[in-house]
Amino acid sequence: MERKHLLYMFTTDDYASPFDINMAYDVGFDIVIPYTHVTPQIGGLLAQDIIFSRGVGGTKFSSIFIGGSDLNLAEDIWKAVEKNMFPPFQVSIMIDPKGAYSTASALVAKVEKSLEVCKMGGLADKNVVILGGTGPVGRIAAVLCAKNGCHTKIVETDPSRSPEFAETVAKTLKERYGVSVTGDYAWTPEKKLDILKEAHLIFSTAKAGIQVLSKSILEKLPPGKIVADVNAVPPSGIEGLASNQDLAEIVPGILGIGALVIGDLKYKVEMDMLDKIRTAEKMTVVDYQFAYKAAKKRL
Ligand SMILES: NC(=O)c1ccc[n+]([C@@H]2O[C@H](COP(=O)([O-])OP(=O)(O)OC[C@H]3O[C@@H](n4cnc5c(N)ncnc54)[C@H](OP(=O)(O)O)[C@@H]3O)[C@@H](O)[C@H]2O)c1
Repeated sequence: MERKHLLYMFTTDDYASPFDINMAYDVGFDIVIPYTHVTPQIGGLLAQDIIFSRGVGGTKFSSIFIGGSDLNLAEDIWKAVEKNMFPPFQVSIMIDPKGAYSTASALVAKVEKSLEVCKMGGLADKNVVILGGTGPVGRIAAVLCAKNGCHTKIVETDPSRSPEFAETVAKTLKERYGVSVTGDYAWTPEKKLDILKEAHLIFSTAKAGIQVLSKSILEKLPPGKIVADVNAVPPSGIEGLASNQDLAEIVPGILGIGALVIGDLKYKVEMDMLDKIRTAEKMTVVDYQFAYKAAKKRL
């Protein structure tokens, strides 16, 4: 009997992401089964129910995808799922909450490659400022940068938040990933200019459709920087940077990478992640470290 490849899609949200569902079918899964409002407790129980029913020989035909907007909760579900499986009853797991693992990996790998192309050295010791860095994509980008030796700052751009919010998130990153990241806020052009002056790399990872960096600020910055945007919903996160631009000079001495250039790589990385859990012969965990390696391999 031919076994079907099943993907159990757990999300912390009200609904599973159609983007992820489409990609799972395109990569070759036969059936995608969504579960919403999953908690670590429910995730653990679901995992135990998944692992036994198809026998030891059937485990490689079942996989679990963990997603949703709540990065910390999704990672806690991942840990609970792992805890509730044991050899030989283990299935492969992929985690990509709100696309943050694949998107941040594509962003950081693309910028790293661009530094090499521009003969600007590597990521180590670069000052990186992540505008809108408190969301899932910004947080994982910060983790990858810090792990690569960057001096990394996440900046809260939403004026409805408290000035301390980014600092609180930075502490969480230290606790959860063991990385050193600083937090700040910037909701005036003067404060942005002050924070961005010394940056070698500037990322815009703010909410879709929110512009966080104006051309007038860019024009006042010293040259020798790379800026990158992941927001593909107009207006772009960085004024004057079109989504399809790839290392284009957007103001003298400042090169930009647009959201669709990063999005194209993100798409390939997510394909690689899904394909890995679908084809793995034994239990494999596909996380942001896998995603980052996949992004580098694709470039
Ligand atoms: N190119 C691709 O393939 C791809 C894939 C996935 C995602 N994305 C894009 O990546 C970006 C980040 O995604 P995400 O899920 O991490 O985003 P998010 O959680 O929606 O927002 C990220 C950041 O934006 C801030 N923000 C919210 N409202 C704001 C406002 N009115 N003014 C200024 N800042 C505001 C948030 O602040 P708080 O933390 O205080 O709320 C947070 O720091 C989005 O633009 C998304 O569309 C791109």
